[in-house]
Amino acid sequence: MSLKQNLSDLETQLNSLSAGEGLALMASLFPEKVVFSTSLGQEDQVITQLIASQNLPIQIFSLDTGRLFPETLELLGRSESRYKTRIKVYYPETASVEKLVNDIGINGFYESVENRKSCCFVRKVEPLKRALAGNEIWITGLRAEQSANRGGMKRVEWDEANQIIKYNPLLDWTFDQMIAYIHEHKIPYNPLHDQGFVSIGCAPCTRAIFPGEDARAGRWWWEDSKKECGLHAK
Ligand code: ADX
Ligand code: SF4
Repeated sequence: MSLKQNLSDLETQLNSLSAGEGLALMASLFPEKVVFSTSLGQEDQVITQLIASQNLPIQIFSLDTGRLFPETLELLGRSESRYKTRIKVYYPETASVEKLVNDIGINGFYESVENRKSCCFVRKVEPLKRALAGNEIWITGLRAEQSANRGGMKRVEWDEANQIIKYNPLLDWTFDQMIAYIHEHKIPYNPLHDQGFVSIGCAPCTRAIFPGEDARAGRWWWEDSKKECGLHAK
């Protein structure tokens, strides 16, 4: 059967399931080959709860870029304690970070989109490749509502860059639905959300948003780009 047919069969099965049921299905169809990348954002905290509450054999991992907010790392530890699980952390290659910083400067990402993408590549894209290697399913917290760019994404899709099937269980969740779920299940979340931060990435590249602004307006706010770092190539 072709990959396209497989994906479309998988999508049909997932369409009739809740996010929690979909995660359980993936864990049973692809034993030991399902991983979940968490940035500790609100979407990801929901998915961590769905995985942990069902005790699913899905490895949760995070990419520590070296430039995260202290609040994010504190939440990582708090989530490990709350869900009695280990969140595997991947770091950038030391030699690559040293070269990058010595080439473009410590905050050289502000100077051009090219510099910014080089920084995202070294600190996120390359470590992600290592985290995904050898697995078959990559779970993410992407939601269609987050940006126009993400509206076109599918629940399951082939990720050419990493040669893996990507599963976005919360793709059609609304923001309000997600917040209600977080409150209902008392899910730990980043205190920065209460200060106007919506989508949270690295500290120097994230700001709070103003009422009415797009959810991702606070990411790389000085750029007039698609505001994607390369993790989710489109
Ligand atoms: S990003 O591409 O702009 O950084 P965003 O912050 O919206 O992405 O997060 C979308 C999804 O990408 C998250 O739900 C998560 O699956 C993954 N992701 C983003 N940043 C990280 C990170 N630092 N570590 C692990 N996964 C991440
Ligand atoms: Fe570097 Fe900013 Fe990308 Fe983080 S978000 S990896 S600091 S350019």
